[in-house]
Amino acid sequence: MVIPFADVSYRDLREWIHQARGLGEVRDVRGASWQEDIGRITEMLHHTDDSPAVLFDDIPGYPHGYRILANANATRTRLALTLGLPIDIERRPLMDRFLEMTEAGRALPPKVVKDGPIMENVLTGDAVDVLKFPSPKWHPLDGGRYIGTGVCDILKDPDSDWVNIGAYRVMVHDAKRVAVYISPGKHGRQFRDKYFSRDEPCPVAVVVGEDPLLFVASSLEIPQGVSEYAWAGGIRGEPYEVIVDPVTKLPIPAHAEIAMVGFLRKGHVLPEGPFGEWTGYYASGEREEPVLDVQAIYHRNDPIILGVPPNKPPYEPHRYREYLRSALLLREVKAAGVPGVVDAHCFGIGGCRLLLAVSIQQRFAGHARQAAHVASMCRVGAYLGRMVVVVDDDIDVTDLNDVMWAVLTRSDPERSLDIIHRAWSGPLDPAIHPDLKGFNSRLLIDATRPWEWRDKFPIAIGPDAETKRETRKKWGWILQGGPDAEAPKSPAAPRRGVATPAD
Ligand SMILES: Cc1cc2nc3c(=O)[nH]c(=O)nc-3n(C[C@H](O)[C@H](O)[C@H](O)COP(=O)(O)O)c2cc1C
Repeated sequence: MVIPFADVSYRDLREWIHQARGLGEVRDVRGASWQEDIGRITEMLHHTDDSPAVLFDDIPGYPHGYRILANANATRTRLALTLGLPIDIERRPLMDRFLEMTEAGRALPPKVVKDGPIMENVLTGDAVDVLKFPSPKWHPLDGGRYIGTGVCDILKDPDSDWVNIGAYRVMVHDAKRVAVYISPGKHGRQFRDKYFSRDEPCPVAVVVGEDPLLFVASSLEIPQGVSEYAWAGGIRGEPYEVIVDPVTKLPIPAHAEIAMVGFLRKGHVLPEGPFGEWTGYYASGEREEPVLDVQAIYHRNDPIILGVPPNKPPYEPHRYREYLRSALLLREVKAAGVPGVVDAHCFGIGGCRLLLAVSIQQRFAGHARQAAHVASMCRVGAYLGRMVVVVDDDIDVTDLNDVMWAVLTRSDPERSLDIIHRAWSGPLDPAIHPDLKGFNSRLLIDATRPWEWRDKFPIAIGPDAETKRETRKKWGWILQGGPDAEAPKSPAAPRRGVATPAD
């Protein structure tokens, strides 16, 4: 039996909302329109620190109770709730606990059940109506309404039992058809292309309104061959309950809000996009993409859409991926055998993909290059990256200023840069000409002190982390209150918002 590390005590999105509400993290908004207001409000939330999760209800044109939750995992507090960790947990303990919870041996396969709340409403044949849900138009130039943003697309490998769940966007064409966009190379795309190469229909279940943990799993680089169900079940310490969909035979979460099931077929395509994407552009434009003919819809009474529309980075998913993808990057660089790895960070400004930093305790000539190449090409780093920076362990990898200071003072372009050519990219890459998308290149920057003369490298102005901590403990009160602030009798806690080395 697996002993749960974390206490994930919610069972579905509704219970998560209830618990987040109890923490004062949820605001209710009524009367916002799907055409414009919801997208605009969500953009405002995404680009405001510590903004609440928002539950939209009474959306004009839709029944009371047909809701959308936006900005769910945007704060460390709500991410901790999702992972079942103490809500005041700091960055590195969060990453370390997350890595413990996702060790391979902890995965728990889902449990098949006969029924569940998602079957409260079963729509087939003429009753299939995707338009009954208040899918927003998230950005002004979107080519359609997107029901699938905080979405779990479930596909099965035709050659094995591997069921993969990926967050792949879903656009509404009409009442019975939606488009599923999967970037080249993603697991779901590899499965889809296998079916198509055999001229077989590709079964897909699009799940909207699952709990935020399963969504986090679907949007992260889970190891090849591992089902997100089992991975997230391992974090919960309890298997996901799934119902085998009679149409596609795919397992769908019994407690999710909405599922649309059907088949993609080779050559059965319609224009998809443009869509505002995570790079901050409508970069992939409009393309022909496979269409899902929805054969059945299952949904709970008063269903809730989980909305995670991309916005200019950093936006909501970057606020949790800054921790989780960074933790996975740390694990993967270490697992590839790079010694002396101290920390890793995927910067939100680059969508947690375009700019990665790794810090090392240098041990040998060539060590920094090894770390850089592995970080840029491992599972977490490979897709649509741009720059990887390797720094010494005195640099705070989470601090863009610190990392750039190392780049500007320890690297010299003629000896410090490598370029990798023809790496994994795709239609979403804004820097690649529209006719040439597919590959991109990577810049690796060795911003460590040069190994050969590290002993002669100028001494950096301090203080070190311990001295900084002591200064703040003793003198931090100066930063609090107004000009008349006085030294406390006992040392005060640092002002909120002032970074401490423990942050
Ligand atoms: C909000 C959001 C939307 C996403 N939309 C897409 C998408 O439309 N297509 C896609 O291929 N990946 C998309 N991704 C990224 C994938 O979910 C991510 O790469 C995931 O690891 C894919 O699963 P896979 O590695 O099993 O293929 C999205 C991620 C997020 C957070």
